[in-house]
Amino acid sequence: MSEVERLLVVDDEAPILHALQRTFEAAGYQVTACADPAEALDRLREKPYQVLSADYMMPGMTGAEFLAQAKALQPETIRILVTAAHDFSAAVDAINNGEIFRILAKPWNRVELLGTVRQAFDTYALREKNRQLTAIVQSQNAELAMLNKGLERLVEERTTNLLDGMVAVLDYRDTETQWHSRRVSRFTRRIAEQLGVKDPLELRTIEMGALLHDIGKIGVRDAVLLKPGPLDQDEWTEMREHPRLGWALLQRIEFLRDASVIVLQHQERYDGGGYPAGLKAEQIVLGARLFAVADTYDAITSDRPYRKAQSHDQAITEMQRVAGTQLDPRGVAAFCGLPEAEWQAIRRDVEKISLLEQEWGWTPPKRIFEQIREIASRQKQPISDPPPHVSGS
Ligand SMILES: [Fe+2]
Repeated sequence: MSEVERLLVVDDEAPILHALQRTFEAAGYQVTACADPAEALDRLREKPYQVLSADYMMPGMTGAEFLAQAKALQPETIRILVTAAHDFSAAVDAINNGEIFRILAKPWNRVELLGTVRQAFDTYALREKNRQLTAIVQSQNAELAMLNKGLERLVEERTTNLLDGMVAVLDYRDTETQWHSRRVSRFTRRIAEQLGVKDPLELRTIEMGALLHDIGKIGVRDAVLLKPGPLDQDEWTEMREHPRLGWALLQRIEFLRDASVIVLQHQERYDGGGYPAGLKAEQIVLGARLFAVADTYDAITSDRPYRKAQSHDQAITEMQRVAGTQLDPRGVAAFCGLPEAEWQAIRRDVEKISLLEQEWGWTPPKRIFEQIREIASRQKQPISDPPPHVSGS
């Protein structure tokens, strides 16, 4: 170690203290000598020492006390006891508490004394090096962890963007309702919030599950998905596979694994009459039950090829009619607990962002969801804006 090697010597007997000081100075150490243990503690408060050599029997405080305090002040300092042989048994406590590196008997053997002090400095240097390396490893680990987190975020963001694009394509393909999935995902999240769900991760899972609910329709042929008339038995079987297909697709994406359950269960009915498993009530995850409420509302209040959109009030009447059979009554109640303007505002946000997106040439520069929320938070007031063209017409 290139640093100065500082040694603090404590002994209440002046001749011994001086003898030790001379011996150590002659060996090249920078020595601070103290006759009083309290003063020695003051020195320790001033600057670091690599090695401390102390007597055991001193006035003012016991050797054990002194060593314990010295350890508290500078835990890294290597402590040596140079004391009368009859003090050895008294020093047992200090030894057992790990406060001492070595114990030497007075009168000392010069070679042994200097050898021990040398070892003490070397031990300090080794431990110091070890501390430095550990710190480096820790900071590199932290850096690596941060890098990993950044990568995970990037993968998540890109995957979400990709899926969001796929959902928009699906909505187009299905043609019945434009931006249906995005609207329903926002509606579902809002119902969950109204029901008291606060955990941001859970809300995100619910929102993503609702957004991706029909992703499995990728696996349904056009001839079935877009068939104008009623489906035959085989076609129904194919159609009814889409929740499972969607679920299987999302199984491969770790951060969407929870949302995949909502996808799997999104066609279940509260009374057990849905598919694929015929689950009932609480057997269906909350996100899927709330999705069904949002989906029903969106279906009624959106234009369909075979009928115009119905009003908010008509939708509420219908939803209350099927509460307890098709829909979770709690979800319906939560939905009805919010004013029409709230749902219209969400609808407008989604339409706005979707139109912006078309202007940008499809791929938005930022994540859609962030954009939607940004716009929503910037425009808290326009709830009283005129209602959108789709509702009540
Ligand atoms: Fe579906």
